[in-house]
Amino acid sequence: MTVSANTHPQQLVLTNRKAEYEIDPVFLQRWSPRAYSSRPVSDETLLQVLEAARWAPSAVNWQPWRFVVAKTEEDRAKFLSFLFEGNAVWCKQAPVLILLASESLRPDGEGENTAHAFDAGTAWGFLSIQAARLGLYTHAMGGFDKEQAKRVLNLPESVVPHVVISLGYYGDPAELPEPLKAREQPSTRRRLETFVFEGQYGQALRVR
Ligand SMILES: Cc1cc2nc3c(=O)[nH]c(=O)nc-3n(C[C@H](O)[C@H](O)[C@H](O)COP(=O)(O)O)c2cc1C
Repeated sequence: MTVSANTHPQQLVLTNRKAEYEIDPVFLQRWSPRAYSSRPVSDETLLQVLEAARWAPSAVNWQPWRFVVAKTEEDRAKFLSFLFEGNAVWCKQAPVLILLASESLRPDGEGENTAHAFDAGTAWGFLSIQAARLGLYTHAMGGFDKEQAKRVLNLPESVVPHVVISLGYYGDPAELPEPLKAREQPSTRRRLETFVFEGQYGQALRVR
């Protein structure tokens, strides 16, 4: 399907994505576009999205995720200063950018929390699904200068940045630069059988 200004993003989902087994449609509806509308995201909506992340499970319920939100022009400019150009070029349109980081130290002072990055990933998953439920779109980006982000946002040494997440409503894909226009498609996935095993790694799941 060609992406035109009036292609509804959910039409792209229906065309590109088919689940092999029945799942909640929201898992297919969440995808990572680059065309954002300038329509603002209300604080209530932003908080609903972050609230979903709050309920993610984590090792020992330590909840190591940390979020730094940029929604003013001034704060968004700070984020754009450390995002790599290939991301900045499109995500500058998104009304909200969120840095997801995690505290790498255990709260009990006993050294490193070895699950902090894993738990931050779960929080990202929850957040992105809640955003999709509300008709918004998220796009995680690992392409940014992590050291610069730490300096600019004043992160403590033990807090590890992972991704910047764009959040907003879908915009007009016709406004994207040419090479990105062609990539504005929900991606598909490998088949289950290529990564699900039974008994030992590499052995196919036996389905009765
Ligand atoms: C940890 C992580 C880092 C990513 N970094 C980037 C990035 O720097 N730039 C980008 O355009 N997309 C980035 N992505 C988005 C992925 O490319 C995208 O999620 C993947 O292709 C699957 O597509 P979907 O999210 O539309 O289902 C990143 C995603 C994750 C989870």
